[in-house]
Amino acid sequence: MSTKLNILILYGGRSVEHEISIRSAKNVVENIDRDRFTVHLIGIDKQGSWFFHEKMNKSIREGEPVFLNLDAVDPFIVRQNGSKILMDVVFPVLHGTDGEDGSIQGLFTAMNVPVVGSGVLGSAVAMDKIVSKKVLLESGIPVAPFMEFDVSQKKSIDFHEIAEKLGVPFMVKSAALGSSVGVSKVKSETDFQAALDESFRYDDRIIIEQFVDGRELECAVIGNDEPEASFPGEIIMVKDYDFYTYTAKYLDEDAIKIQLPAETDDKTTEKLRQISIAAYQALRCEDFARVDLFLTTEGEIIVNEINTIPGFTSVSMFPMMWQHMGMSYTELISRLIDLCLARHNKSKGRETDYKAVN
Ligand SMILES: Nc1ncnc2c1ncn2[C@@H]1O[C@H](COP(=O)(O)OP(=O)(O)O)[C@@H](O)[C@H]1O
Ligand SMILES: [Mg+2]
Repeated sequence: MSTKLNILILYGGRSVEHEISIRSAKNVVENIDRDRFTVHLIGIDKQGSWFFHEKMNKSIREGEPVFLNLDAVDPFIVRQNGSKILMDVVFPVLHGTDGEDGSIQGLFTAMNVPVVGSGVLGSAVAMDKIVSKKVLLESGIPVAPFMEFDVSQKKSIDFHEIAEKLGVPFMVKSAALGSSVGVSKVKSETDFQAALDESFRYDDRIIIEQFVDGRELECAVIGNDEPEASFPGEIIMVKDYDFYTYTAKYLDEDAIKIQLPAETDDKTTEKLRQISIAAYQALRCEDFARVDLFLTTEGEIIVNEINTIPGFTSVSMFPMMWQHMGMSYTELISRLIDLCLARHNKSKGRETDYKAVN
């Protein structure tokens, strides 16, 4: 009998980051250690239908419909021909809605299947830009001053009130999206309405933040009991974008330059790494995450956000940062799966019955 572990890789998904997830998953599938793991692929289409694939060479809907056996004692998936695939580990290579926000994590956790990456709590908190900033603030981690609004308040959101509190320009963002979707920079009252409309298109809650004038840095964090942070990398805008937009991220190859490691003095580098670990722990992240920060012109460090499933494409920061630290892409994937399994095994001994003692 094979002693290889069955890894279910999930990709695609209902989020606006569907395409990016496919690109990330292709890279994971190409680089995963085939001596240790047997890979099974599940593509989730934009409508949320799940399909089994032998290889990632077809469009998602061309795969076989797949069924989950909802049984925490013996969790498996069933292929169209009736064959069962036991699930040793699920690796969601999904970004944004459903995949990164705790939903998929909850589904598999309820079935007692180990899921690589942050669990329900860490995923959900990190996904929400408002809740995560409140938790970070409470933990003494610096974030940009912000205001929050619900769609029911939309008509009464006042440009002048915001300008007075946060200054101009400011950033308007959907609360729980990624890839710069629903994000705008407001430079004057004339941009304001369009920015509100854009952010409310994708979410019922928005965050409006003070604009931070600074460098954009990212730190990769891995681990559970004693998380480690990579050296920070820097996103350097080389073209004239207002900020790191969707186009600059994915469509315009020459928009940015990645500087790895970032050119920061030793003291700042250490501080960036420490704050990244503190932010990761404050949001209850598990296994891995990428912490995005600003370094202001005055040398102040501000945490922007934490991505619990960062990009895994060939040009993504997260794997590149670990490569720079001496860990190959293949080793990185194995390490994440091992962290997940160790965490899962640790939670096994926990009591699930209660006998009243008082
Ligand atoms: N407060 C801010 N000050 C300056 N730039 C910001 C601020 N918030 C976001 N940005 C810019 O917008 C980009 C996307 O915003 P971010 O909060 O990271 O959302 P996403 O989850 O979509 O990546 C950032 O990479 C940065 O370029
Ligand atoms: Mg971001």
